[in-house]
Amino acid sequence: KSYKIALIPGDGIGTEVLACSWSVLTEASERFGFRLESQTFPWSCDYYLQNGRMMPDDGIEQLRAFDSIYLGAVGWPARVPDSVSLHGLLLPIRKAFDLYVNSRPHRLLDGVEGPLRAGSFDILCIRENTEGEYSGAGGRVHMATPNEVAVETSVFTRRGVERIIRYGFEMARTRKRRLASVTKSNAQKYSMVFWDEVTDTLAAEYPDVEVTRYHVDAIAARFVTHPQTLDVVVASNLFGDILTDIGAAIQGGLGFAASANLNPEGGVPSMFEPVHGSAPDIAGRGIANPLATIWAGALMLEHLGEASAAQAIVKSIEDVTRQRLVRTPDLGGQATTEEVAQAVIAALAAL
Ligand code: NAI
Ligand code: MG
Repeated sequence: KSYKIALIPGDGIGTEVLACSWSVLTEASERFGFRLESQTFPWSCDYYLQNGRMMPDDGIEQLRAFDSIYLGAVGWPARVPDSVSLHGLLLPIRKAFDLYVNSRPHRLLDGVEGPLRAGSFDILCIRENTEGEYSGAGGRVHMATPNEVAVETSVFTRRGVERIIRYGFEMARTRKRRLASVTKSNAQKYSMVFWDEVTDTLAAEYPDVEVTRYHVDAIAARFVTHPQTLDVVVASNLFGDILTDIGAAIQGGLGFAASANLNPEGGVPSMFEPVHGSAPDIAGRGIANPLATIWAGALMLEHLGEASAAQAIVKSIEDVTRQRLVRTPDLGGQATTEEVAQAVIAALAAL
């Protein structure tokens, strides 16, 4: 089998972590007997400064032919406003391919110190990625007067809510068959009551999955106090955004947080990336932690159907963290990005 991957290294440490992570995926492909073909797209803030746009006009069409998109990070705020870099590249890709699932595994690996003694922390967060609180509907009147009013309306569609909760149920079936549905239906009487109704309707189709409703404030606390009671968590765009930052912090921070932007129906490329940005403060020094990007690569292989290779990569990452030997400065070590990636490759070879 062979897969075509579009590589978008982007800016800053994005280019550093993506190159190293790609060598890990290549190694995994050789060990597990499939091929990865890549084409690199230099779309970035540099590209913007030369061409006046973040990607060519037919950029989306160029990407459409690929099985997946593997992205480093995009943004260089000192030279290009974030609104330009985000709206010129990442958001158009998410929108064009309707990548409505944002899936993030939050697992505290052996040898990693999070801010809590979480013991076991292993939660899959499924965030709605296209509508809800970030729909952009709203406006302001009487601006800059004492009577000013700003309205920002959440938009929840039956199609949008159904498909994300259904994906949550499907993921619960691949794990512990426990789904937490996040709302605030005590305070938000239209959108979140609707979300609860859709959850209840779908629950009838998944009698083997235990569903629990949580209010977002309560589940935020539960992430910290009783994470072992949670497995798959499905949430709206805003609530998912907040909960995934808590999850990332508990799993050890940006060095570990990986993200998949998925269209589960397929036929279009999904996009895989670390949660972190281009880190201008450490870019160019070769010291960024590549583990989040390597983990995102594992999510990509899993999505492509190469589950064994994906598991082997995550296990290799954990073998490296458990030994506490090869660590980048963010984890208190002195290793380079390249050395960490090489350690993961060595762990893969030793499996
Ligand atoms: P950032 O995630 O780039 O950096 C925040 C802090 O975490 C910095 O101190 C950085 O050195 C550190 N850090 C991040 N990743 C690291 C890694 N792998 N290893 C070691 N340390 C790491 O967030 P910031 O500074 O707010 O944003 C910088 C640029 O990145 C902005 O232009 C922003 O818009 C963009 N960005 C892009 C994202 C994307 O492409 N999906 C996501 C987040 C931010
Ligand atoms: Mg966020």
